[in-house]
Amino acid sequence: MKRTLTGVQPSGKLHIGNYFGSIQPNLELAKTHEAFLFIADLHALTTVRDPDVLRSNVLDVALDFLASGLDPEKTTFYRQSDIPEHTELAWILSNLTPLGMLERAHSFKDKTAKGLEVNTGLFTYPVLMAADILLYEPHFVPVGKDQKQHVEMARDIALKFNHAYGETFRIIPEPMISEETGVVPGTDGQKMSKSYGNTIPIFLEGKALQKIIMSITTDSKGVGEPKEPEKCTVFTLAKLFFSPDEIKDLEGKYRKGGFGYGDAKKWLYEKMEAFFAPYRAKRKELAENPEKLDLILRFGAEKAREIARKKLDEVRRNIGLS
Ligand code: ADP
Ligand code: TRP
Repeated sequence: MKRTLTGVQPSGKLHIGNYFGSIQPNLELAKTHEAFLFIADLHALTTVRDPDVLRSNVLDVALDFLASGLDPEKTTFYRQSDIPEHTELAWILSNLTPLGMLERAHSFKDKTAKGLEVNTGLFTYPVLMAADILLYEPHFVPVGKDQKQHVEMARDIALKFNHAYGETFRIIPEPMISEETGVVPGTDGQKMSKSYGNTIPIFLEGKALQKIIMSITTDSKGVGEPKEPEKCTVFTLAKLFFSPDEIKDLEGKYRKGGFGYGDAKKWLYEKMEAFFAPYRAKRKELAENPEKLDLILRFGAEKAREIARKKLDEVRRNIGLS
């Protein structure tokens, strides 16, 4: 079985763009691969300064993935900071990483272009990411398009290491970019993203969920007028939750007229509420059992650490450390 590994930044409650663009594809992959998934809390330190925020973000991401069906027996699920081998390997790899490579990173260039202050952690972010990956020698690294360059750097660093010290990283990982889902639009029609403030969180329910769905931007066509489903954000979102028959029905109602955007939104709300209901129940149960959650993450860390330890021992031997 081929191995996959990916990291998720703990940046708060996940939204339905994350669900369809990251959680669901990762759960699918775990059916056919030996999957590793970790919460990149060390990477989050490059931007998060508040300890309570960091703690609650890590908790939220762990709960969101587990409640959505991640099976910790099948996917090795852990916190990056529980495995000190990540930071040790990052230091070792930084000595094989040309400065110019990091200067070319989009994430770094974007920040400096905006005149933002960049700390060294953010600058060396791709080296830590290379260590995250290479410790486990996955065949594939499923990531969003924006992370592809970082995985390519991990490949380059692995090759440089092998060249300098002999074959140590035997599998050079490939980025795996999921094109299937497409971009999930937010309430304003742009890509749903935390940074645009247009998200629909997965575990919102009742009035709060209804309010967000009612706020989705549409054109100003009245109830009686025929409407174009392919141009409507409500319709695009409905496709994620409706059965093919229901979508056909909705499409017919749009084209015929006599059916308002408010009606479509109400229907979308009901379907979303029902879609996530079982996950919500599971999330509540887990949130009330912090010891259980901790146990799950520690179980994952133990499995991961055994692999990381072995790889790092080999690296240390090969470079001349004890
Ligand atoms: P955000 O843009 O809200 O900060 P992230 O960049 O943290 O989201 O994304 C984490 C994962 O979720 C990535 O794998 C990304 O591809 C996926 N993702 C995020 N937003 C969307 C979206 N609107 N549609 C599809 N996938 C998305
Ligand atoms: N940088 C990734 C992101 O922001 C998260 C991440 C950290 C990661 N380490 C990784 C992803 C290793 C894949 C492999 O989404």
